[in-house]
Formats: sequence, C-alpha cells, structure tokens
Amino acid sequence: MQTSRFQDRVAVVTGAASGIGAATARALATEGAKLALLDANEVALHTIAAELHGSEAIVTDVASAMSIHAAFDAVMKRFGAVHVLVNSAGVIGKFTLQNMSESEMDRVLGINLKGTILCTQAAIAPMRAQGGGAVVNVASMAGKRVSYAGAANYTASKAGVLGFTWHAAFELGAYKIRVNAVCPGPTLTGMTAKRNAEQRAEVVARIPLGRWVMPEDVSNAILFLASDDAAMCTGTSLDVDGGILVSNGSSYAEYFSVRT
Ligand SMILES: NC(=O)c1ccc[n+]([C@@H]2O[C@H](COP(=O)([O-])OP(=O)(O)OC[C@H]3O[C@@H](n4cnc5c(N)ncnc54)[C@H](O)[C@@H]3O)[C@@H](O)[C@H]2O)c1
Repeated sequence: MQTSRFQDRVAVVTGAASGIGAATARALATEGAKLALLDANEVALHTIAAELHGSEAIVTDVASAMSIHAAFDAVMKRFGAVHVLVNSAGVIGKFTLQNMSESEMDRVLGINLKGTILCTQAAIAPMRAQGGGAVVNVASMAGKRVSYAGAANYTASKAGVLGFTWHAAFELGAYKIRVNAVCPGPTLTGMTAKRNAEQRAEVVARIPLGRWVMPEDVSNAILFLASDDAAMCTGTSLDVDGGILVSNGSSYAEYFSVRT
C-alpha cells in the first residue's frame, strides 16, 4: 500500500547524493515530501536531483557553519519551511590512533559530529516557527561499540551523535521538535563498497539475520522516526543492524556448532 506520510512537508537530507541519504531522499519523495538535497559531492548531487523532480540540490559542506547557513537560507527561500531534517552526511576514518593526525581527527569529527549539530541548530528556527519538526541523525552501531570498518575518531563521532541526540531531544522537546537516531550495522553503500566478495562474506557470517543491511532498510527506519507514526518518540535510537548488537562477536554458525 502506498502511503503519503510526508505530503506537503519539507525535508532536508544531508549526504543525499549517495547511500543511506540517497535512499532516504527517494523514499521521502515517494511519500510526497518536498526535498532539499544537501551534499558536498556536486556531480553526484545533481544526478540524484535530476532523478527526484522538484527537489532542490544545494552543494553544502556540513562541516562549515557558513555553508550550512547558506544552505538553510536557500531552503527557506525555495520552500519556506523545514519539517524534517535527516543528518546522513558522514565519512569514515582509517588511521590507527598512533598514525592519526590532528587534521584527520578534525575531518571525521567535523563532518560526522559537528555537522550534525550545526544542521540541527539551523533547523531549530524554522521548526519552532511552524510548531515542531523531526530530526533523524544517522549514527551507527559504532556509537554503541567499536566500529568494524572505521577508526577511533569514527567511533567517537558516532557515540557523540548519540549523546547529542538525547540531549537535543530533551532541550528541543520544549518546541515539539523530536530528535532521534538510527544505528545502522554494515550497510552496502559507497562507504563499504570497496570490500571484495570474501570480505563481504566474512561480515555476513557475524550477522544473525544473515545479510548486509541495505540502504533501504535504514531509510525505512528513518522515515518511521521522521513521521507522525513516531509522534511520541524522541531521544531514542533504532538499531538497523541485523542483530549484530545482540550477538557475542563470534561467527554466528559457531554459536550453533557447539549447541544442540
Ligand atoms: N555504510 C555503513 O556501513 C554505515 C554504517 C553505519 C552508519 N553509517 C552512516 O551512514 C551515513 C551515510 O553513509 P553511507 O553509508 O550512505 O555512505 P556514502 O559514502 O554512500 O554517503 C555519504 C554521503 O555524505 C557526503 N558527505 C561527505 N562529507 C560531506 C560534507 N562535508 N558535507 C556534505 N556531505 C558530505 C558524501 O558526499 C556522500 O554522498 C554516514 O553518517 C555513515 O557514517 C554507514
């Protein structure tokens, strides 16, 4: 059944040019949202904007307050409101602590954590003005334990996004602005696509539900939290990880091999 939970609502999606952000933008468009697509990758951004008719593509660096202010000004000029904000822009880090430069720390924390905070700040005034809104932050399973693919700065950024989510939820509840997070497990996107078949199979061996998470699995959870279906949910995080967070870390088959 086709639903239209976002008819006439304005949704801003960061990281909209790829992966989870792109899947979320497509799903929101299918459910009637007016879309502002924010991303730093200009070429990929214009490709998805061409696909989603009527959307506004705004090249944005979420690590820059100036860039975000300009983006939200453009959104207000075009649509006059912000009902939904999805913070999906993110990058992964690959350095061990010993080899991690200050600029690499700043890069990952700046985009993943500061970017989420800055975009949420920018959404407050328009959401307050219209009597409320919904923010969904794309955190990660890494925010609840050690990242499987990223480095310590990535794990720290995602734990930070979760802390920010519940504090912002507390403070912004006063304005009927809900703030929630999703915690994806290993998801097949540009971020993880470089793995070969064997490496991908190794990841699957640790997932109780037996497959990689797909971007649409995550966007389904995001749309729930952004919609009125979640009207009394705020400060929560929804794991979309195929059961990894309830597993014991070993291969799933191994669990059954020593039990009858
Ligand atoms: N793929 C996974 O396994 C996984 C797991 C858990 C969480 N996540 C999180 O999901 C979110 C989306 O990641 P994805 O997997 O879709 O990866 P992706 O690489 O496909 O998409 C990330 C998008 O963010 C954009 N971006 C990067 N830096 C930016 C900046 N400074 N300003 C604006 N946009 C910028 C990129 O251009 C890209 O379009 C990220 O926050 C990521 O940490 C991903």
